[in-house]
Amino acid sequence: MGTLADKLTIVFADAFESAGYDRSYGEVRVSDRPDLCQFQCNGALAAAKQYRTNPRQIAQNVVDSVSAPEVFDDLSLAGPGFINIQLRDEFIAAHVQEVCGDERLGCETVGVPGRIIVDYGGPNVAKPLHVGHLRAAIIGESIVRICRFVGHEVIGDVHLGDWGLQMGLIIEGLRGRQPDLPYFDDACTGPYPEDPPVGIADLEELYPQASEREKNDPDFAEAARQATVELQAGHPGYRALWKHFRDVSVDDLRQSYEQLNIRFDLWLGESDTQDRVHGLIARLREEGYARESRGALVVEVEEPGDRETIPPLMLEKTDGAVLYGTTDLATIDQRVEDYRPDYMLYVVDNRQQQHFRQVFKAAWKTGVAPESTRLEHNGFGTMNGKDGKPFKTREGGIMKLKDLIELVTGHARARIETIESIREYDDDEKETISRIVGVAALKYADLMNHRTKDYVFDLDRFSSFEGRTGPYILYAAVRIKSVLRRAGDRGIQAGRIMAPISESERDLDLKLSELPAVIGMAFETRAPNHLCEYAFQLATAYNRFYHAHHILSEEDGERRASWLAVSGVTLRALERVLDLLGIEVPRRM
Ligand code: ARG
Repeated sequence: MGTLADKLTIVFADAFESAGYDRSYGEVRVSDRPDLCQFQCNGALAAAKQYRTNPRQIAQNVVDSVSAPEVFDDLSLAGPGFINIQLRDEFIAAHVQEVCGDERLGCETVGVPGRIIVDYGGPNVAKPLHVGHLRAAIIGESIVRICRFVGHEVIGDVHLGDWGLQMGLIIEGLRGRQPDLPYFDDACTGPYPEDPPVGIADLEELYPQASEREKNDPDFAEAARQATVELQAGHPGYRALWKHFRDVSVDDLRQSYEQLNIRFDLWLGESDTQDRVHGLIARLREEGYARESRGALVVEVEEPGDRETIPPLMLEKTDGAVLYGTTDLATIDQRVEDYRPDYMLYVVDNRQQQHFRQVFKAAWKTGVAPESTRLEHNGFGTMNGKDGKPFKTREGGIMKLKDLIELVTGHARARIETIESIREYDDDEKETISRIVGVAALKYADLMNHRTKDYVFDLDRFSSFEGRTGPYILYAAVRIKSVLRRAGDRGIQAGRIMAPISESERDLDLKLSELPAVIGMAFETRAPNHLCEYAFQLATAYNRFYHAHHILSEEDGERRASWLAVSGVTLRALERVLDLLGIEVPRRM
């Protein structure tokens, strides 16, 4: 069904055609001057160039050819040849009725569904999950949901960082603390203990200590590098230890992601390429794609037409260790073989732009990915503190994701305690509401800016119940739930949607009809901020309507039933959008 603008586009395409012009000029869009008209068609201006006629004359001919009296309240010419469009209220209502009857609220699915792998989250084993990974998870989750909703088959992969130098660092760090563990005993070949020698708290201590020591202690740094090489080459003790580190980390990560309403389909990582990486390197060597350069093995990716220089992708260091780019290339190889995806989207920090440019070029050049596979880096900016630098804790350290979740939940808890109606809820419900509201504040604030932009973390602003915030939108959704619940208690049912009787009701109807275009736009540009803006506009339109009309005390039964129906569709639209943003809605608050 699409939007009202889509329907009008068909009417205008017909009108252009019957006036003797090309249909393609008939595009209608929501007016950018809502004070003048609801929709506009500007095709006459472009048509004038092709037909070498006065655009105003073309617009007039088109208006004269429009044959749909039931649709329009007014069609008028403006400026050099714009057509301003006002619709009849009955036509608007009939459209909203149609939206109401459609499970997908008028949103069509893509004509040709594809398979999309979204690589997002990207946490590193053993290193604490910090706010730098927060955006990857929040934005990625929303992109996954959007792609899925428009009809693609989507596979989300967390792509753990679990195969690099940090593993060697914590192996050596642990050796320093507990040198007698069997993992370090070269005479021991297993089996090794089933229980991990460390918990998450130890891991979180080990990594920062080891990485600090690496900077000042060359022997330690060399040992860690050596341990990484041996781990990758299959040292049984290190492998066993590594598996413990990975399991302990993954358990912890799952809990944080669960709190954030983020769910990955695959929990693969860099290490899952270990079986294929050397075969791949051998093939690239044989086929002449990989060559030695100053001791390392590289793939040249720069092409004659490139506007800037792109350094070669490094596959293997002199000591035989593989690198970040190598595991990424091998991961593409694996994904192509296992899933034949049409797209691979990488939701990763902007700062890795060059890395992905190298990896993608290498993948296409070497045939690891077919030319037809779309490889995209959907980059994002930094979450900064008020000082304009990447967000830190008050003590100046890196804020862990767990602590951040507790921070936003605590903030919401404090606010919620002040709301009279909530005070009587039981503790479990209060806690759930606090988490949902706190996480909504954080996610909405993150998603409302275009992903490539940096933004400033400002919890007070994010948590306000006014303006463009998560809590404001949740509050509107919960208000509608409460209206519907009270109607249900009184046995009042929703009915057929009638023509709007006020400005605010008409605006709400028109806003509701825009949903398909907004989702389409968010998908095309992989940009959830369009959904945030729409949710705000829809919530605001509903609030105005709610204050203008006393829904439940309305005496005209048909009118009341119509308003309930409009409230119901609005709630469905809000819940749909919030779900695409990965934001939950409490039952009440
Ligand atoms: N683990 C990486 C990091 O923390 C992010 C991984 C992104 N995905 C990828 N396929 N490289 O920077």
